[in-house]
Amino acid sequence: MSDARSELTVSLWRGAQEGRYETYNVPLRENQTVLDVVTFVQRHLDATLSYRFACRVGVCGSCAMTVNGRPRWTCRTHVSSVAKAGRLEIGPLENLPVIKDLVTDMRPFFEKWQQAKGAFVPSKTRHDAVDAIRPESPARVAADAAIECINCGICYAACDTVRWNADYLGPAALNRAWTLVNDARDAGNATRLAAVAAAGGCHACHSHQSCQELCPQALNPTASIAGLKRRTAAAYLKGEIKA
Ligand code: SF4
Ligand code: SF4
Ligand code: FES
Repeated sequence: MSDARSELTVSLWRGAQEGRYETYNVPLRENQTVLDVVTFVQRHLDATLSYRFACRVGVCGSCAMTVNGRPRWTCRTHVSSVAKAGRLEIGPLENLPVIKDLVTDMRPFFEKWQQAKGAFVPSKTRHDAVDAIRPESPARVAADAAIECINCGICYAACDTVRWNADYLGPAALNRAWTLVNDARDAGNATRLAAVAAAGGCHACHSHQSCQELCPQALNPTASIAGLKRRTAAAYLKGEIKA
Protein backbone atom coordinates (compact mmCIF):
# COMPACT_ATOMS: atom_id res chain seq x y z
CA MET A 1 0.00 0.00 0.00
CA SER A 2 1.37 3.46 -0.86
CA ASP A 3 2.39 5.96 1.79
CA ALA A 4 0.09 8.98 1.22
CA ARG A 5 2.77 11.28 2.75
CA SER A 6 5.41 10.41 0.17
CA GLU A 7 3.60 8.67 -2.67
CA LEU A 8 0.50 9.00 -4.80
CA THR A 9 -1.58 6.00 -5.83
CA VAL A 10 -2.38 6.65 -9.47
CA SER A 11 -4.85 4.69 -11.62
CA LEU A 12 -4.26 5.19 -15.33
CA TRP A 13 -6.46 4.02 -18.19
CA ARG A 14 -4.63 1.47 -20.33
CA GLY A 15 -5.92 0.13 -23.61
CA ALA A 16 -8.24 1.60 -26.21
CA GLN A 17 -12.05 1.89 -26.00
CA GLU A 18 -11.91 -1.43 -24.21
CA GLY A 19 -9.32 -1.44 -21.45
CA ARG A 20 -8.82 -1.19 -17.71
CA TYR A 21 -7.32 1.04 -15.03
CA GLU A 22 -3.87 0.03 -13.82
CA THR A 23 -2.32 1.31 -10.64
CA TYR A 24 1.12 2.92 -10.20
CA ASN A 25 2.86 4.45 -7.21
CA VAL A 26 4.37 7.85 -7.94
CA PRO A 27 6.52 9.96 -5.59
CA LEU A 28 4.66 12.99 -4.25
CA ARG A 29 6.45 16.29 -5.02
CA GLU A 30 5.82 19.89 -4.13
CA ASN A 31 3.94 21.86 -6.82
CA GLN A 32 3.50 18.69 -8.88
CA THR A 33 0.99 18.82 -11.73
CA VAL A 34 -1.15 15.97 -12.99
CA LEU A 35 0.89 16.05 -16.21
CA ASP A 36 4.07 15.64 -14.11
CA VAL A 37 2.55 12.47 -12.62
CA VAL A 38 1.69 11.00 -16.03
CA THR A 39 5.16 11.91 -17.32
CA PHE A 40 6.79 10.21 -14.32
CA VAL A 41 4.92 6.98 -15.07
CA GLN A 42 5.92 7.09 -18.73
CA ARG A 43 9.58 7.87 -18.04
CA HIS A 44 10.19 5.65 -15.01
CA LEU A 45 7.52 2.94 -14.76
CA ASP A 46 6.10 2.09 -18.19
CA ALA A 47 7.50 3.58 -21.39
CA THR A 48 4.57 2.20 -23.40
CA LEU A 49 2.11 4.67 -21.83
CA SER A 50 0.67 7.01 -24.48
CA TYR A 51 -0.46 10.56 -23.72
CA ARG A 52 -0.38 14.01 -25.34
CA PHE A 53 1.16 17.29 -24.32
CA ALA A 54 3.23 20.01 -25.96
CA CYS A 55 3.62 23.38 -24.24
CA ARG A 56 3.23 22.41 -20.54
CA VAL A 57 2.13 26.00 -19.80
CA GLY A 58 -1.56 26.12 -20.67
CA VAL A 59 -1.29 27.35 -24.24
CA CYS A 60 -1.53 24.44 -26.69
CA GLY A 61 -4.63 22.69 -25.29
CA SER A 62 -3.30 19.20 -26.00
CA CYS A 63 -2.98 17.77 -22.47
CA ALA A 64 -6.64 17.47 -21.43
CA MET A 65 -7.61 14.27 -19.63
CA THR A 66 -10.25 13.09 -17.20
CA VAL A 67 -8.90 13.56 -13.68
CA ASN A 68 -10.88 12.09 -10.79
CA GLY A 69 -14.02 12.20 -12.94
CA ARG A 70 -13.68 15.69 -14.43
CA PRO A 71 -12.06 16.91 -17.64
CA ARG A 72 -9.06 19.14 -16.88
CA TRP A 73 -5.93 20.61 -18.50
CA THR A 74 -3.37 18.47 -16.76
CA CYS A 75 -0.36 20.79 -17.14
CA ARG A 76 -2.09 23.50 -15.13
CA THR A 77 -3.84 21.25 -12.59
CA HIS A 78 -1.90 20.79 -9.39
CA VAL A 79 -2.11 17.40 -7.73
CA SER A 80 -2.74 19.11 -4.40
CA SER A 81 -5.99 20.59 -5.73
CA VAL A 82 -7.48 17.34 -7.05
CA ALA A 83 -5.94 14.28 -5.32
CA LYS A 84 -8.30 12.80 -2.79
CA ALA A 85 -6.45 11.02 0.05
CA GLY A 86 -3.38 10.67 -2.15
CA ARG A 87 -5.32 9.01 -4.99
CA LEU A 88 -5.66 10.03 -8.61
CA GLU A 89 -7.63 8.40 -11.39
CA ILE A 90 -6.60 9.64 -14.82
CA GLY A 91 -8.36 8.61 -18.02
CA PRO A 92 -8.86 9.85 -21.58
CA LEU A 93 -11.39 12.60 -22.35
CA GLU A 94 -15.03 11.48 -22.47
CA ASN A 95 -17.22 11.78 -25.59
CA LEU A 96 -14.34 10.99 -27.97
CA PRO A 97 -13.04 7.66 -29.28
CA VAL A 98 -9.98 6.39 -27.40
CA ILE A 99 -6.95 5.60 -29.57
CA LYS A 100 -4.68 4.30 -26.81
CA ASP A 101 -4.33 4.92 -23.07
CA LEU A 102 -4.82 8.66 -22.47
CA VAL A 103 -4.94 9.64 -26.15
CA THR A 104 -8.31 10.35 -27.76
CA ASP A 105 -9.14 10.77 -31.42
CA MET A 106 -9.89 14.51 -31.73
CA ARG A 107 -11.21 14.25 -35.28
CA PRO A 108 -14.93 14.36 -34.35
CA PHE A 109 -14.22 17.50 -32.30
CA PHE A 110 -12.49 19.32 -35.17
CA GLU A 111 -14.88 18.00 -37.82
CA LYS A 112 -17.66 19.74 -35.90
CA TRP A 113 -15.71 23.01 -36.09
CA GLN A 114 -15.84 22.57 -39.85
CA GLN A 115 -19.56 21.73 -39.78
CA ALA A 116 -20.18 24.89 -37.74
CA LYS A 117 -18.31 26.87 -40.44
CA GLY A 118 -15.62 27.78 -37.96
CA ALA A 119 -13.15 28.98 -40.60
CA PHE A 120 -12.80 32.68 -41.39
CA VAL A 121 -14.22 33.66 -44.80
CA PRO A 122 -12.44 36.77 -46.06
CA SER A 123 -14.54 39.62 -47.42
CA LYS A 124 -11.54 41.46 -48.89
CA THR A 125 -8.48 40.57 -50.90
CA ARG A 126 -4.89 41.16 -49.85
CA HIS A 127 -4.90 44.26 -52.05
CA ASP A 128 -7.72 45.96 -50.10
CA ALA A 129 -7.13 48.20 -47.10
CA VAL A 130 -7.39 46.42 -43.75
CA ASP A 131 -10.68 47.09 -41.94
CA ALA A 132 -10.40 49.09 -38.75
CA ILE A 133 -12.45 47.44 -35.97
CA ARG A 134 -13.24 49.68 -33.02
CA PRO A 135 -12.36 47.79 -29.79
CA GLU A 136 -15.44 49.18 -28.05
CA SER A 137 -17.90 48.14 -30.79
CA PRO A 138 -20.53 45.69 -29.43
CA ALA A 139 -19.64 43.02 -32.00
CA ARG A 140 -15.94 43.22 -31.17
CA VAL A 141 -16.70 43.05 -27.43
CA ALA A 142 -18.86 39.94 -28.01
CA ALA A 143 -16.17 38.24 -30.10
CA ASP A 144 -13.45 39.22 -27.65
CA ALA A 145 -15.22 37.49 -24.76
CA ALA A 146 -15.16 34.17 -26.62
CA ILE A 147 -11.96 34.26 -28.62
CA GLU A 148 -9.27 32.79 -26.36
CA CYS A 149 -10.23 29.14 -26.97
CA ILE A 150 -7.24 26.76 -26.99
CA ASN A 151 -9.18 23.83 -28.56
CA CYS A 152 -8.59 21.61 -25.55
CA GLY A 153 -11.89 19.71 -25.86
CA ILE A 154 -12.68 19.98 -22.16
CA CYS A 155 -16.08 21.56 -22.74
CA TYR A 156 -16.89 18.90 -25.36
CA ALA A 157 -15.99 16.14 -22.88
CA ALA A 158 -18.10 17.80 -20.17
CA CYS A 159 -21.23 18.30 -22.29
CA ASP A 160 -24.17 15.95 -21.65
CA THR A 161 -25.79 16.95 -24.93
CA VAL A 162 -22.70 15.79 -26.84
CA ARG A 163 -22.96 12.49 -24.99
CA TRP A 164 -26.64 11.98 -25.87
CA ASN A 165 -26.72 13.45 -29.37
CA ALA A 166 -23.93 12.41 -31.73
CA ASP A 167 -24.93 15.16 -34.17
CA TYR A 168 -24.59 18.00 -31.66
CA LEU A 169 -21.85 20.40 -32.75
CA GLY A 170 -20.81 21.02 -29.16
CA PRO A 171 -19.79 24.07 -27.13
CA ALA A 172 -16.37 24.79 -28.66
CA ALA A 173 -17.47 24.72 -32.31
CA LEU A 174 -20.51 26.88 -31.55
CA ASN A 175 -18.41 29.26 -29.46
CA ARG A 176 -16.05 29.60 -32.43
CA ALA A 177 -18.96 30.25 -34.80
CA TRP A 178 -20.15 33.02 -32.47
CA THR A 179 -16.78 34.81 -32.69
CA LEU A 180 -17.01 34.77 -36.49
CA VAL A 181 -20.67 35.82 -36.54
CA ASN A 182 -19.44 38.94 -34.74
CA ASP A 183 -16.43 39.50 -37.00
CA ALA A 184 -17.19 42.45 -39.29
CA ARG A 185 -14.44 41.31 -41.70
CA ASP A 186 -16.00 37.87 -42.29
CA ALA A 187 -18.27 37.10 -45.26
CA GLY A 188 -19.46 33.62 -44.29
CA ASN A 189 -22.49 34.28 -42.11
CA ALA A 190 -25.18 33.18 -44.55
CA THR A 191 -23.93 29.59 -44.54
CA ARG A 192 -22.66 29.76 -40.96
CA LEU A 193 -26.03 30.81 -39.49
CA ALA A 194 -27.80 28.08 -41.49
CA ALA A 195 -25.25 25.51 -40.24
CA VAL A 196 -25.55 26.41 -36.58
CA ALA A 197 -29.37 26.64 -36.78
CA ALA A 198 -29.73 23.15 -38.29
CA ALA A 199 -30.45 19.97 -36.30
CA GLY A 200 -27.57 19.39 -33.90
CA GLY A 201 -26.82 23.11 -33.78
CA CYS A 202 -27.24 25.80 -31.14
CA HIS A 203 -30.89 25.05 -30.43
CA ALA A 204 -29.96 21.59 -29.08
CA CYS A 205 -28.05 23.15 -26.16
CA HIS A 206 -29.86 22.80 -22.84
CA SER A 207 -27.85 25.57 -21.14
CA HIS A 208 -26.62 23.34 -18.32
CA GLN A 209 -23.33 25.26 -18.30
CA SER A 210 -20.93 22.38 -17.64
CA CYS A 211 -18.85 23.88 -20.46
CA GLN A 212 -18.68 27.25 -18.75
CA GLU A 213 -17.94 25.68 -15.37
CA LEU A 214 -14.94 23.67 -16.63
CA CYS A 215 -13.42 25.75 -19.43
CA PRO A 216 -9.83 26.40 -18.34
CA GLN A 217 -9.79 29.69 -20.23
CA ALA A 218 -12.84 30.90 -18.27
CA LEU A 219 -14.83 31.24 -21.48
CA ASN A 220 -18.60 30.94 -21.45
CA PRO A 221 -19.72 28.86 -24.46
CA THR A 222 -23.26 28.81 -23.04
CA ALA A 223 -23.45 32.59 -23.46
CA SER A 224 -22.06 32.33 -27.01
CA ILE A 225 -24.66 29.68 -27.84
CA ALA A 226 -27.40 31.85 -26.38
CA GLY A 227 -26.18 34.60 -28.71
CA LEU A 228 -26.42 32.21 -31.66
CA LYS A 229 -29.96 31.23 -30.64
CA ARG A 230 -31.00 34.89 -30.70
CA ARG A 231 -29.13 35.62 -33.92
CA THR A 232 -30.52 32.61 -35.80
CA ALA A 233 -34.06 33.37 -34.59
CA ALA A 234 -33.69 36.90 -35.96
CA ALA A 235 -32.33 35.48 -39.22
CA TYR A 236 -35.43 33.26 -39.55
CA LEU A 237 -37.72 36.20 -39.00
CA LYS A 238 -35.88 38.25 -41.62
CA GLY A 239 -35.99 35.36 -44.09
CA GLU A 240 -32.18 35.09 -44.17
CA ILE A 241 -32.32 31.37 -43.33
CA LYS A 242 -35.08 28.81 -43.80
CA ALA A 243 -36.71 26.63 -41.13
S1 SF4 B 1 -24.54 24.63 -21.84
FE1 SF4 B 1 -24.95 23.62 -23.80
S2 SF4 B 1 -22.95 23.33 -24.75
FE2 SF4 B 1 -22.58 23.82 -22.56
S3 SF4 B 1 -22.40 21.81 -21.57
FE3 SF4 B 1 -24.57 22.42 -21.44
S4 SF4 B 1 -25.61 21.55 -23.24
FE4 SF4 B 1 -23.36 21.45 -23.58
S1 SF4 C 1 -14.16 26.67 -25.05
FE1 SF4 C 1 -12.77 26.39 -23.30
S2 SF4 C 1 -13.03 24.23 -22.73
FE2 SF4 C 1 -13.86 24.46 -24.78
S3 SF4 C 1 -12.20 23.90 -26.18
FE3 SF4 C 1 -12.13 26.15 -25.90
S4 SF4 C 1 -10.72 26.50 -24.19
FE4 SF4 C 1 -11.26 24.33 -24.15
S1 FES D 1 0.48 20.91 -22.46
FE1 FES D 1 -0.21 22.66 -23.58
S2 FES D 1 -2.04 23.24 -22.51
FE2 FES D 1 -1.23 21.62 -21.30
